[in-house]
Amino acid sequence: MLIQTHSQQLIATAENWWVDCALAALDWRGRFDVALSGGRTPRRLYQRLARNRLLRGHWGQIGLWFGDERAVPPAHADSNYRMVLEAGLNPELGVQLERIPGELEPTLAAERYAKQLGSLPQRGGWPLFDLVMLGMGADGHIASLFPGSANLAEGDKPVSACPVAALDSWRISLTLPVIANARRILVLVAGADKAEMLQRVLHKGDPAYPASQIARLDQADWLVALDDKGPNA
Ligand code: 6PG
Repeated sequence: MLIQTHSQQLIATAENWWVDCALAALDWRGRFDVALSGGRTPRRLYQRLARNRLLRGHWGQIGLWFGDERAVPPAHADSNYRMVLEAGLNPELGVQLERIPGELEPTLAAERYAKQLGSLPQRGGWPLFDLVMLGMGADGHIASLFPGSANLAEGDKPVSACPVAALDSWRISLTLPVIANARRILVLVAGADKAEMLQRVLHKGDPAYPASQIARLDQADWLVALDDKGPNA
């Protein structure tokens, strides 16, 4: 489902959506395991979730995982884990926080995180998240699955490590089978610079872009704000 809103309402709308999803999972199975997305857009959402009063008392049954990570140590400025901690989603809440060990050699980090995912429920041989959160880049990437990258084809393992030439860095990412296995998916997209790509993936389903793989999934909700001032303005 596509939900379009103004950038000033995006984060509040995302917060309500996320809390509803979490409380439904907690009610149904007593746990909520979510893979968080990185980048700039979700930062303010995480700050609000950390203070959300409806989640108080539930953090002990919530597992915060990561959809992808940069191949950097946890204290590095580019670390998604550091961004989440600084937003207030931290162990002081009593929440389980499962980071991708970005400080390790990337393929070892991917193997290590794949082992950690073994503690989740499994479905069809893949880890089963209640929710996978994604952002989308203007180039149509999701998580750290970039157009043309080798890890797109890695359909035999849950986590992959891949060099990203455009960023001159390595990334570690959940693979498409794990993302597609999630009960729910929330794709949070902010900024006018993404409007053209959003059109391509949602309405044309251009297979050249990883985001198109998500567009065809029934369990994916797209929450978008395309006016110029993104939620980080
Ligand atoms: C990351 C993310 C990445 C991000 C998109 C959108 O580690 O950077 O997982 O996929 O979601 O690049 O990023 P923005 O929210 O900064 O536009």
